[in-house]
Amino acid sequence: RGEITLGNFAEKLGVNASELIKKLFLKGQMLTINSVIDMTLAEELADDYDAMVEQEEVEEMAFGEKFNLESEDKESDLIERAPIITIMGHVDHGKTSLLDAIREANVADGEAGGITQKIGAYQIVKDGKKISFVDTPGHEAFTEMRARGAQVTDIAILVVAADDGVMPQTVEAIAHAKSADVPIIIAVNKIDKEGADPSRVKNELMEHGLVPVEWGGDVEFIEISAKFGQNLEGILDTILITAEMLELKGNPKKRAKGVVMESRLDPKVGPIADVLVQEGTLKIGDIIVAGESYGKVRALLNDKGEKTEAASLSQPAEVIGFNTVPEAGDVMYVVQNEQHARRIVEEVEKDRKLNDQNKKKHISLEVLSQHM
Ligand code: GTP
Ligand code: MG
Repeated sequence: RGEITLGNFAEKLGVNASELIKKLFLKGQMLTINSVIDMTLAEELADDYDAMVEQEEVEEMAFGEKFNLESEDKESDLIERAPIITIMGHVDHGKTSLLDAIREANVADGEAGGITQKIGAYQIVKDGKKISFVDTPGHEAFTEMRARGAQVTDIAILVVAADDGVMPQTVEAIAHAKSADVPIIIAVNKIDKEGADPSRVKNELMEHGLVPVEWGGDVEFIEISAKFGQNLEGILDTILITAEMLELKGNPKKRAKGVVMESRLDPKVGPIADVLVQEGTLKIGDIIVAGESYGKVRALLNDKGEKTEAASLSQPAEVIGFNTVPEAGDVMYVVQNEQHARRIVEEVEKDRKLNDQNKKKHISLEVLSQHM
């Protein structure tokens, strides 16, 4: 962990190491199978094979463990929690429209150029059951946001426009969902359109290992029209059935833990973080820490922008009270007091500085997806 050799890299890329060595040799670089390669070289090599290289984020995991912020749950404290569903897919395939139709709101219309540029999280109730949704952008520039979405999710909805079929960010989304090891439900969208060809979508997705249930596989394909609200029931029912099988549980009694999905500096209220609460219950007055930011929760807003006293399992909330703007992707923890929070932040800062210095040496790579 932390470094990658040419040999390991070749393996991840699915090519022979000698092929890469020869390639580099012809460019005047003498490397062996055991040579450690850096990000720039990895990207250069991957490019020749149409693969993508991503830097692995290892800090987040270590954070909670390092400061002993994780705790075991007593079985008796666990209750059912709402599934977190991330909507992914290629740009303009109708992710926000689907979520709008489900929420009966109109987010897509208000977006600049109709392109989603942030992650949005919302909760709805269907048949008395809560479902949390995370919308992600499909534009190619937002790989990191999609990866973040996939990390917090219990189930991925992959939206594929039936008139356009499988596109590059569709493939990328599959890779994210697979690396997060979550079930995928396919929403074949825009079936109202002329030229819509749902069976083509099935065939194309088969090539990526997603086999429809009716063809003997285990992936649900639901044909919908987000625009005309067609078959939303089908999507929601499939989500609830899939969620039920996952038996998702959480402990609402302990100190909260969540992920910062978005953050910004509001000129009037100061730093604001959109947090998806994963464990425990977040309350006003709680001492919070996320990355290099800490503070005391002054106000909480729900997904409708209303003030609320607390946010619990699987609930999205806007958190006001951080001293600085935390980074999207940071894990947020509630800790026992401000002193503790400050100590953690100091440590994290120190770590980051060290990391910055050692960046060259401490690079780790993950080949996320390979395009055909
Ligand atoms: P990004 O967030 O930018 O990746 O796009 P998106 O996937 O959220 O797509 P969005 O919901 O913004 O929809 C893109 C365009 O497709 C809009 O013009 C929608 O009106 C249209 N659209 C979405 N769903 C349907 C559908 O079921 N039928 C038809 N005909 N058009 C649709
Ligand atoms: Mg969108």
